[in-house]
Amino acid sequence: MTLLDGKTLSSLIQNDIKKQTDELKKKGVTAGLAVVLVGDDSASHLYVKMKEKACEDAGIYSIVHKMPSSISEENILETIAMMNKNPNIDGILVQLPLPRHVNQTKVLEAIDAAKDVDGFHPFNIGRLVAGLDGFVPCTPLGVMRLLEHYKIDVKGLNACVVGASNIVGKPMMNLLLNAFATVDICHIYTKDLASHTKQADLLIVGVGKAGLITKEMVKEGAIVVDIGVNKVDGKLVGDVEFEGVAPKCSFITPVPGGVGPMTIAMLLSNTIKAAKGRVL
Ligand code: GUN
Repeated sequence: MTLLDGKTLSSLIQNDIKKQTDELKKKGVTAGLAVVLVGDDSASHLYVKMKEKACEDAGIYSIVHKMPSSISEENILETIAMMNKNPNIDGILVQLPLPRHVNQTKVLEAIDAAKDVDGFHPFNIGRLVAGLDGFVPCTPLGVMRLLEHYKIDVKGLNACVVGASNIVGKPMMNLLLNAFATVDICHIYTKDLASHTKQADLLIVGVGKAGLITKEMVKEGAIVVDIGVNKVDGKLVGDVEFEGVAPKCSFITPVPGGVGPMTIAMLLSNTIKAAKGRVL
């Protein structure tokens, strides 16, 4: 069993991005990321702090627009319109979830698709589905980069994705399909989840439920990617029962230190991609 070490790979990627930001600076361009953070969800605040720190280390300028949860949708849309026009901002990210009174779709659609470094705009979703170049959501993109790094070719594999969110499961499904895996996608209404997961050469789980995947549900020799982030008794764990499942796997991601750091590395990578658009 080999651990898919996202922590080490993400620091290699971040070093490479630093070189690219240095090159861009020689051409007079400082890559810039704007983050919109609404409300006081502690996990969102933590994620945004991590994103800010990663930008700083990689030589990317970042600005966080913090807004109270009482903010109007109109105000958020005005902030986005301002950042769309700002030539120093290459990437715009609205941290989710948004408060319930705000229409998330409307907010995400207001972001200029050329600055949509989260890849949540329908324009970029459409390009991903069609297999065209665009911005791809950071977590599933990070999973693909991690698999590539370990020379895992997904072509022809039976892949099972558990979780069908817009942020993780659906784009993951499309990336795998574009790479010619045979993809089975499961969700809350799936009957007999184990009958699906047991068929998988590549099992990717992003649900947010600790202990969801047990050893009985995993095929011998499978590659297991755990995107879940759960706190149990103050400890960070994924959706996969690591102790039981790991011995059956050819490869498995640890939590923490697997997919999480890759997500941030891909955000930096998407921001650089957007910034390069300025000098092309
Ligand atoms: N909330 C949970 N995951 C994400 C993410 O990848 N991007 C944003 N913007 N918000 C999130």
